[in-house]
Amino acid sequence: MARAWPGAILDDMECKSTSPDRYRIRTGRAEDLKALRAHLDEAIRPALVEPGCKPLSGHDSACIVASVEAAFAQALRDRHQKVLIGDLDGRACGFAIVDHANPVPDLRWIVVLPEHVGGGLAQALMDAAVRLCPANASLSVVVSAGNRRAIRFFRRNHFVEKAAGSRIGRILRMSRQPA
Ligand SMILES: CC(C)(COP(=O)(O)OP(=O)(O)OC[C@H]1O[C@@H](n2cnc3c(N)ncnc32)[C@H](O)[C@@H]1OP(=O)(O)O)[C@@H](O)C(=O)NCCC(=O)NCCS
Repeated sequence: MARAWPGAILDDMECKSTSPDRYRIRTGRAEDLKALRAHLDEAIRPALVEPGCKPLSGHDSACIVASVEAAFAQALRDRHQKVLIGDLDGRACGFAIVDHANPVPDLRWIVVLPEHVGGGLAQALMDAAVRLCPANASLSVVVSAGNRRAIRFFRRNHFVEKAAGSRIGRILRMSRQPA
């Protein structure tokens, strides 16, 4: 049976500053979507565009942004999911969604807005996501096989591709083994 979030861990996280000083990681709120929305298209593009392929049409891109927004809104309502926000001076600069419904938690999205890429926010979000998981649980993520920057980021965070069944077409499933 799916487990609910351990309340003590979440309460403790509300005001914890994780990052190399700049960012505060906190629980997501509906209004964060408004702050993120203006740059979401650009932010998630690297997750979708394959090198050598045609760029996404405006329509496709809008559909994908809408599906990410829907996933964000759904995660806010779902007691098995947790939305983490990277906050800089009260503004949302990135987010991660962790789904705890299955025995192996899923990192559904980890996204930082373009001007914060490479600035340590992704690491702060990842550290917070890992802290949400039970000590002996792994964490799973699905990534486009062409998303080299993300794959490198996940590998640095001890995610590995499983030998069999981890790649379906251009989609790669990676999982982080517990320490
Ligand atoms: C994935 C993401 C969260 C990582 O955040 P980030 O700030 O880029 O992460 P970092 O800079 O800490 O790490 C990226 C790594 O890729 C490397 N890198 C940069 N450009 C690269 C490229 N073109 N190819 C391969 N590696 C690259 C960086 O050098 C770094 O590796 P290093 O630490 O070994 O030097 C961010 O890039 C992002 O939001 N991407 C769009 C959304 C996405 O793809 N999410 C993942 C799927 S859910």
